[in-house]
Amino acid sequence: MTADIVITNIGQLLTAQGDKAVGGARQNELLTLNDAYIAVYDERIIAVGEGRAPEELMDEYTAEIDAKGRLVTAGLVDCHTHLTFGGWREDELKKKLLGVGYMDILKEGGGILSTVRSTRQMGEQEMFERAEGFLSEMLAHGTTSLEAKSGYGLDLDTELKQLRVHRMLKEQTGIDIASTYLGAHAVPTSFLNNKEGYVSYICEVVLPEVAKEGLAEFCDVFCEQGVFDAADARRILAEAKKFGLKAKLHSDEIHDIGGTAVAEEVGAVSADHLTATTEEGIMRLKHSGTVATLLPCTSFYLNKSYADARAFIAAEVPVALGSDFNPGSSPNLNLQLAMNLGCLRLKMTPYEVLTAVTLNAAAAINMADRIGTIEVDKQADLVIWDVMNLNELVYRYGTNRVDTVIKKGKVVV
Ligand code: NIG
Ligand code: FE
Repeated sequence: MTADIVITNIGQLLTAQGDKAVGGARQNELLTLNDAYIAVYDERIIAVGEGRAPEELMDEYTAEIDAKGRLVTAGLVDCHTHLTFGGWREDELKKKLLGVGYMDILKEGGGILSTVRSTRQMGEQEMFERAEGFLSEMLAHGTTSLEAKSGYGLDLDTELKQLRVHRMLKEQTGIDIASTYLGAHAVPTSFLNNKEGYVSYICEVVLPEVAKEGLAEFCDVFCEQGVFDAADARRILAEAKKFGLKAKLHSDEIHDIGGTAVAEEVGAVSADHLTATTEEGIMRLKHSGTVATLLPCTSFYLNKSYADARAFIAAEVPVALGSDFNPGSSPNLNLQLAMNLGCLRLKMTPYEVLTAVTLNAAAAINMADRIGTIEVDKQADLVIWDVMNLNELVYRYGTNRVDTVIKKGKVVV
């Protein structure tokens, strides 16, 4: 078989291996090839190796891309984003500078609830076009697959609108998107002082509709003091499971209120944020094989403490990194910044960081069987970086280091 594309002259090809999340020392083990090539046919990788690409892979129709001795990795996977929302929240910056807390802004009816108002007003087509713009920006920064959460509608119509936009984006852009229903993101004002009523609404009204239309693979809950407690999360995720939705949790972002215990009980695919997680919580995630998705861009923007990545790695819990792109706590969709902070603030090694944004992130959205590594038969999602090696990529920050992006075997950037 001859290839459609052969990338030649790769100075450093770095990839995790396999189709499962890796923790502990294995998170730091990458396959390194020097002076390497990758051959792509249709949507897949058909050959990877060192030295010159074998003649039989090429004919006059094969496009050769010269990597000019630079770094090539698998396409980045952003396993935690809030992709679809109306408006921004730049006005909150002033309050933030005056020292008003994130949760205080929410209690005043701002924060998530202000984005809920803008998201409800936004038409489906407008939401689609805006999110499509975000996807192009993400691709330009090396992100070739992602997870997208609802949670800025809270009511049935708007939640379905967000989830339908995820589906339209998947169908029309070809980008792999894992869709997550996050109805339990805040208690809407229509259920003021009636959290129980809203939890019932999620379970009895929205979840059945989401499932009927097949709009989400995952269900997520913001498990936090003053938002949804562990019992709410347990109830919602158990109900979601009946509809075939797998569990994710926003857990221990500000306080540890037992989110990781729920993650263990329900066998969550990932638990995310984890800045306040205790040793006991870490052990729980270990037992349930849950991926710990850490979100350093959020800590950076909120000027809060960072998750203890080293403790998760020491306990052999696989760590992933996501952008948490959203208008309130992480108005950034460039996953390269999460990589920089992964090293600089989470004290992860460059190899651990690369695993965290490729294989482990893919596992955090149940896609590791087809994306997240550079291996024969995996999908051809690749980035040629404008740096000579991984150290340079995680050390340079503030500018986009992408040169070329290949998604499903097509050059898209
Ligand atoms: O993951 N923590 C809850 N949800 C988002 C923030 C949402 C918002 O502020 O709009 C997060 O950080
Ligand atoms: Fe989030």
